[in-house]
Amino acid sequence: MEEMQARFVERLMKDAASDPQACSTAFAPSNIALCKYWGKRDAILNLPVNSSLSISLGSLGTRTDVRRIDAPADAVHLNGLEVPAELPFARRLSGFLDLLRPWLGAGALEVDTRNTIPTAAGLASSASGFAALVLALDRLGGWGMDRRSLSMLARLGSGSAARSVYDGFVQWHAGHDPAGGDSFAERIDSEWPELRIGIVELCVEEKPVGSRDGMNRTAATSALYASWPAQAAADLDLLRNAIAERDFATLGRTAERNALAMHATMLAAWPPLLYFQPGTVEAIHRIQRLRADGLAVYLTIDAGPNPKLLFRSSDEPALRAAFAGLRVADPFGAASPA
Ligand code: DP6
Repeated sequence: MEEMQARFVERLMKDAASDPQACSTAFAPSNIALCKYWGKRDAILNLPVNSSLSISLGSLGTRTDVRRIDAPADAVHLNGLEVPAELPFARRLSGFLDLLRPWLGAGALEVDTRNTIPTAAGLASSASGFAALVLALDRLGGWGMDRRSLSMLARLGSGSAARSVYDGFVQWHAGHDPAGGDSFAERIDSEWPELRIGIVELCVEEKPVGSRDGMNRTAATSALYASWPAQAAADLDLLRNAIAERDFATLGRTAERNALAMHATMLAAWPPLLYFQPGTVEAIHRIQRLRADGLAVYLTIDAGPNPKLLFRSSDEPALRAAFAGLRVADPFGAASPA
């Protein structure tokens, strides 16, 4: 397993420069998929079954500081607290660093990760986490790699991280190459300043089944999964057109249907995957009522209970009134710290 990943990384890193620094820092935004990535065609190289499309969350994401330390092993910090080496978070991070060790120079590293979003609450902090780490390592090693290659490195850490090396709308191309060389993310050259993402924080506890296990179980056991690749491909086309034409109703409707179709494939898995909590269902009903009353609001939900709302800035006061404590992200607002 490690060998295939090591060969992939070796091919990617052959054009990397080398100008080692003592420390580095980087920020990556979290992203919310409007057309979801759900299912892998290769679990080792982390290649997806379908292409996906996301919107970044502006200043909500992860800042990662990396520095060289004189110690026998890496040190990992998450939100200001040291994470013991045997915990899954530290193990996943160290495993990823091991892949890049030949290009990082000798010695241990201290990795300090700070999220501005709850960890593992379906708000894709692994996406911004691995993206920020890869951007920081590129600076630490002085590799000077292009974003496309960095998105492929981030993909090895977590698929959705491939999209978080960019701001704005991003498409992750599934690709066809069994060796993974054409499965990268790319920024869609289009801004939509009025667009807002609302995060309804129902539950900040760790979810019982992570995305990785959830998508593997769905692909292996759900009869509905067979319809997913065609649904995702059709939705991706609709979303690209909606973005190009600034057609908010099509954008919202397509994103909502795509998310609910993904959850339908999960419900038909065995054991069934039910990420919704009572509050999730209540929010779905509330959004349908608001829409019936003429408000242009749509939702998307990842592998967790928290709905994310899609709306335009002019409707922000109405949505803040309908959802107490709504956190609002402005994807095209003030530039995110690099
Ligand atoms: C439902 O990127 O967390 O959020 O590649 O196994 O790390 P791994 O999975 P991950 O899955 C994200 C699934 C999703 C949809 C999406 O973000 O596209």
